[in-house]
Amino acid sequence: MCGIVGYNGTKKAVDILLDGLSKLEYRGYDSAGIAIQDKEIEIFKAKGKLVNLKEKVENKNLLGTCGIGHTRWATHGEPNEINAHPHVSNDGNVTLVHNGIIENYQELTQKLERHNYKLYSETDTEVLTNIIDYYYKKYKLGPIDAINRTMVRVRGSYAIAVMFKEYPDEIWVARKDSPMIIGINEDGTYLASDVPAILKYTKNVYYIDNLEAACLKKDKVTFYDLNGDEIKKELKEIKWDIRAAEKEGYEHFMIKEINEQPDVVKKTINSLINENKIDLSKTGLTSEIINQFKEIYIVACGSAYHVGVCAKYVIEELARIPVVVDIASEFRYRKPILNKDGLVIIISQSGETADSLAALREAKEEGLKTLAIVNVVGSSIAREADYVLYTLAGPEIAVATTKAFSTQLVASYSIAIEFAKVKNTIDNETYVSLINELKVIPDKIDEILKNSTSNIQKIASKFSHIHDAFYIGRCLDYAISLEGSLKLKEISYIHSEAYAAGELKHGTISLIEDETLVIGIATQDDVFEKTISNLVEVKSRGAYVIAITPSDKDVSKVANDIITIPTTNKYFYPSLTVIPLQLISYYITIAKGLDVDKPRNLAKSVTVE
Ligand code: BG6
Repeated sequence: MCGIVGYNGTKKAVDILLDGLSKLEYRGYDSAGIAIQDKEIEIFKAKGKLVNLKEKVENKNLLGTCGIGHTRWATHGEPNEINAHPHVSNDGNVTLVHNGIIENYQELTQKLERHNYKLYSETDTEVLTNIIDYYYKKYKLGPIDAINRTMVRVRGSYAIAVMFKEYPDEIWVARKDSPMIIGINEDGTYLASDVPAILKYTKNVYYIDNLEAACLKKDKVTFYDLNGDEIKKELKEIKWDIRAAEKEGYEHFMIKEINEQPDVVKKTINSLINENKIDLSKTGLTSEIINQFKEIYIVACGSAYHVGVCAKYVIEELARIPVVVDIASEFRYRKPILNKDGLVIIISQSGETADSLAALREAKEEGLKTLAIVNVVGSSIAREADYVLYTLAGPEIAVATTKAFSTQLVASYSIAIEFAKVKNTIDNETYVSLINELKVIPDKIDEILKNSTSNIQKIASKFSHIHDAFYIGRCLDYAISLEGSLKLKEISYIHSEAYAAGELKHGTISLIEDETLVIGIATQDDVFEKTISNLVEVKSRGAYVIAITPSDKDVSKVANDIITIPTTNKYFYPSLTVIPLQLISYYITIAKGLDVDKPRNLAKSVTVE
């Protein structure tokens, strides 16, 4: 999950590369490097965050107008300067940056050693660089032939940008499974792993498909297929606003994105409602198609999986269709028994997560229809799914998702309501009242942000010293507590567990002692009393209880701190309870002085297995 960038034009490449890498650092930030071609190709690499590389090149007066860059999330070889990209072939002929994993790199290493290549790093990428050089020298048919022969020979995932010594002022790229976008404007041509890196320069982009290559010259991009034949590509315009990729005065992207939720949730809901009816026509789903589905499988990773867990409760109760929720890395290998009349829903912010993409392909191979709920237009999962529902969260930069999560939640509610309507499991009155309530969710999120943020900051800042925390709830409250717990873990490095409140007494309650933090979520009427008694159980064992509950409920007897949220329809409470959960994690992490936007060991989208 690295970030790669490239520029070939009339401007100084170093500024554009470093700026682009700073917009991709959420993809990996344990080392970075650039290669600038002027009279010759110069390479600069540094361990650690991008600022170390910036310091290294700031007085170098690099005037070259063609270059490539990389920010790394180590997979092969520890994060250090030698293993950092760009990598160079033995005689300097080929210089390359790579995002992905070469699975058969050991076998290729032996091949190279048989041909007297010497490797200086522990990386699969250096192997890839020399394999391109090997074919380049063996067949002497130029860059496209060498790259295509390499694509046939290597196994794994890759997005690469390559510079050949004998082809100055050209950048060659190719991809398979790892994301890449190519941009163009009057100042030159650009490449990047993700939109925010080039949005400042152009909105005009090409989408390069799997096993395709391209040559970026200063004024044009030429695309090739695996036979080396030229192929035409349509230039598309990106709808995103550059400001979305900036902090705009907020201290961190995460708190900015938390505060963007009322706006992006409203945009997403409005894109799914037409004349006060749910309208899924943009996805390609029709009532006839919906009616065919007898079962639903939701497959995703990380927080997107937690949206799936929430969606299961809502879809099953409203539409009375069985829903199976799976972690993508399990789904793709556990040989699930799939009903041919099933719909597989893949949820992914980036649309590039490798396990989710593989699960999509698995489902298609099994002959099932697939619906992707994604946030990135033109992403691999969006391009390969049968039906696509785009969430409108805009670029999400902070590694820990917040606004994309909230847009995925309302998207899944819309699916539940429409499936229930088509399957006739709800009457029109219920249908209309659900839509009317859905439309005011953004205002209620806004209300929480305006009225409760400072109180939540006060409460959360008391817990920067803790080592453990528990999140409990029942039914939909349990489902959303999973996300609350992950949010705390991923950014504050505090161990926490989410537990079905009724399950606690079957073991884990033994961990509850004086001052153990327990965050209880209690919104669901039909299990409210039960949840309260579970909070009494932990309180009586010394726990410090923070309760998140609607304003019409009284939890004062069991809670040390109470965070009230507006009332809403029972199915929509995850959209409201997740806000305090996000803020608690954010403010505890801030109180610990940690890098909230780029937590250690994580990356925004995991494009390798
Ligand atoms: C992780 C991110 O890498 O991937 C999480 O840190 C995210 O925030 C998970 O939920 C899944 O990513 P995506 O893009 O498939 O939703």
